[in-house]
Amino acid sequence: MLVPIVLTLCAITRIKGNASIERKFPSNFLLGAATSAYQIEGGWNADGKGESDWDYHLHKQPDIVQDFTNGDFAADSYHLYERDVEILKELGAKAYRFSISWTRILPDGTTNFINPHGIGYYGRLIDLLLANNILPLVTLYHWDLPIAFSNNGGWLNETTADRFGEYARIVFNAFGNKVKHWITVNEPSIHCSFMYEYGIHPPLNKSPGVGFYECGRNLLLAHAKAYHIYDMEFRKIQRGKVGLSLDAEWPIASSGSKDDLEAVKDYLAFNVGQYMDPIFKGDYPERLVNRIAAASRRQGFTKSRLQAFTDKQKAYINGTADFIGINHYFSLYVYRNASVRGMYEVPSFLDDTGLGTFQDPTWPQSAFTRMREYAPGLYSLLMYLKDTYHNPVVYVTENGFPTTPAEDLNDGKKANYLRAYLKAVLDAKANGSNCQGYFFWSLVDGLEWASGLQKYRFGLYQVDFNDPSRKRTARKSALVYKEIIRTGTIDFDYNPDPYGDRDKCFKNT
Ligand code: BGC
Repeated sequence: MLVPIVLTLCAITRIKGNASIERKFPSNFLLGAATSAYQIEGGWNADGKGESDWDYHLHKQPDIVQDFTNGDFAADSYHLYERDVEILKELGAKAYRFSISWTRILPDGTTNFINPHGIGYYGRLIDLLLANNILPLVTLYHWDLPIAFSNNGGWLNETTADRFGEYARIVFNAFGNKVKHWITVNEPSIHCSFMYEYGIHPPLNKSPGVGFYECGRNLLLAHAKAYHIYDMEFRKIQRGKVGLSLDAEWPIASSGSKDDLEAVKDYLAFNVGQYMDPIFKGDYPERLVNRIAAASRRQGFTKSRLQAFTDKQKAYINGTADFIGINHYFSLYVYRNASVRGMYEVPSFLDDTGLGTFQDPTWPQSAFTRMREYAPGLYSLLMYLKDTYHNPVVYVTENGFPTTPAEDLNDGKKANYLRAYLKAVLDAKANGSNCQGYFFWSLVDGLEWASGLQKYRFGLYQVDFNDPSRKRTARKSALVYKEIIRTGTIDFDYNPDPYGDRDKCFKNT
């Protein structure tokens, strides 16, 4: 008996240092893929959909987007959702993360009119997913804000959080009997910085060091509002879970110096703690509060540019996550020395952090300058969340690596990235992380926001944007992912040629 037992153990475990590393994903681990409404749906005004800030601004000023494309048609998932589900089925995906377009459900953003066609569309998508045993993980807000609210101060206006709560109630009511995993908002940090810190996303309002914090604060209040509405009105019957997705890179100290180690802590406080701490610890991290207050004083502001939460708000936000979604793409080295002073605009978020960053040029490079492969970063991030926030349930709700259009279907670098990062997830799980799912970004190519449709190919499936039928074709990464999902392992010897293997793996492409 000894031999088979030893062999079995060898097949599923490997010893790394003194930790025993589980080499297989448990069958209930959600391996899936993710998308968002504006990036793939198209149908921007189909069947009574109202205008979002993205619709409005990209029509009015097309040069916001590098290649002058927009989301009017995108991957046309509004009409091709059946094909998207077919793709998920081909992959063997266990779950799909997608977002609901607020103005498809509520055309003017308010509850004055509920669009039956919007309800119908998402209802059909959800039913089809469930019929194929694919679990829907639904994001309520992935950056497309009703234009009326955008014009009324957007996320700088606290009342937008109230409107968000009303929208959430309609969606919970419509789909909560079928959807059991809700993500309220996607990436407050990136979203707020692109809107208000750098002014490169609608409403193109650049107010460095001010709007970013205000926006993040209101998004936390919006998230908490939706959470409480679910808790009080729906949870008992629907029995679902509510969380939010945060973007988090992993910072590595560039030396063991005290300054660099402090810089790492500050990086985490500004980028992760700013959102995690109010939810998991009841208030902003002290080092975030202190740094912004000190900088504001130096700059002659009469009060801190980071507005404190009232005690009532603290209590309202505290404890409002049944799970946490993590969107992780890359890592960076951080440092702090004299050269950082004067490096950034004053005031600004980066100046407040008071640190510099760089990447290791030997890390494999994606089509996107800042996105390089360094999978141990995801491992460290998952362990940090475990140790800092009492081991919450975590889903990696985004992780991806854009290839270039020239790489076409042969996106081997993306496939390598996928395997490396899934290995990091397995390692973290083996060391106690409560990570329960992983969603590759993205299922199909889509509009990469202000970078447009053409430049970055995030999709496991290529979308031919020159073809009116928006044909989807499996890339090499899709074939590799299919094998990972099928076997539950990453340690197999499979390096497919997408042209040779496609027919074998995917009947429908
Ligand atoms: C966003 C996605 C985006 C991805 C790649 C994330 O910040 O949630 O919408 O496409 O990064 O840049």
